[in-house]
Amino acid sequence: MTERINIAVIGAGVIGKRHVHEIAHNDACSLAAIADPSPEAAPYADALNVPYYRDYREALARLDVDAAIVCTPNHTHLDVGLACIARKLPLLMEKPIADDLDAARRLADAAAGAGVAMLVGHHRRHNPRVRAVKEAIEGGRIGKLVLANIMCLMYKPDAYFEVPWRRQPGGGPVLINLIHEIDLLRHLCGEIVSVQAVTSNAIRGHDVEDSAACTLTLASGALANVSLSDTASTPWNWDTTAGEDRALFDYRPVPTHFFAGTDGALTLPDLALWSYRGKKGRDQPIHDTRLCIVEENVYAAQLRHFVDVVKGDARPVIGGHDAARTLAATLAVVEAARTSRPATPSVIQ
Ligand SMILES: NC(=O)c1ccc[n+]([C@@H]2O[C@H](COP(=O)([O-])OP(=O)(O)OC[C@H]3O[C@@H](n4cnc5c(N)ncnc54)[C@H](O)[C@@H]3O)[C@@H](O)[C@H]2O)c1
Repeated sequence: MTERINIAVIGAGVIGKRHVHEIAHNDACSLAAIADPSPEAAPYADALNVPYYRDYREALARLDVDAAIVCTPNHTHLDVGLACIARKLPLLMEKPIADDLDAARRLADAAAGAGVAMLVGHHRRHNPRVRAVKEAIEGGRIGKLVLANIMCLMYKPDAYFEVPWRRQPGGGPVLINLIHEIDLLRHLCGEIVSVQAVTSNAIRGHDVEDSAACTLTLASGALANVSLSDTASTPWNWDTTAGEDRALFDYRPVPTHFFAGTDGALTLPDLALWSYRGKKGRDQPIHDTRLCIVEENVYAAQLRHFVDVVKGDARPVIGGHDAARTLAATLAVVEAARTSRPATPSVIQ
């Protein structure tokens, strides 16, 4: 392997371009090639002065490629991922790991079986705010978790729905947005063992849901509520409140994620920590303080971690099987809403 990690970016759409930008700003890696069949991709690669391929398999066959970042549509993740694994190339696979559980299992098993490192792009895990809250919860600062309450309520502009698949089952906020919340919950609060959910398409009237109310039971016995909508004009969604991509989204740092414990409470992304100083009780004064962090660009942090993974210096913070569990819990929400019964996430070994 050369000193710099040479990375091929497969799929140069919205998130692919973000990764290209981060590679350009990281001294430990270089952009080896761009692969994308769309007509805009060749001039984009030309402007960057990097080799361009319509077919990703040709890009992967280059001798100087050390790793790949896969940013193609969800239904292609299995084929593209298996091609990387066959070449023994470590990969950063964008989330979701795949579009169904069978594909997710096959990918995770193939990577593990071949000894190829796969990091999945649940980028919030690299956010220092998330790290601080995880440390605080695990360090017992709110006692035993009782209930988490998460709002994921946004208004997606009408033009977003001009693309037909976004109006069809699978293209709605459950599989696009809720999956981030599910991964965050699993990361911070532990496994989800049961799911109840109701979805609605009453506002937009598309075949896919525009809103959902979900109640989840965690392995610890704690509960979590997630309110989800892509047709609600609010600032209460991670993209608006966490400020991870201020070029793409407005930034309003109000709390959206609430974690209530027996000894205190935490909110994200503002990092408020509430607790009683003496005797506990709603008749007593409750005080708030802030957890301290150093702000970081999460996509840059994710790439730094990926470079360490490629070098063999770190294990992926979220690998294939872990990401498959996040997908399983998200698909359980779809199942619970469809059947109007509690659903159990499929077990991923
Ligand atoms: N982590 C995040 O926050 C985040 C954000 C957005 C998207 N994503 C994920 O990234 C992936 C891409 O999403 P997007 O919004 O960038 O989509 P997009 O439609 O903007 O870009 C996808 C690109 O892939 C290209 N493509 C399609 N088939 C290909 C193939 N076989 N080989 C190479 N290129 C191919 C398309 O031409 C397009 O340019 C999805 O899995 C999505 O869920 C993650």
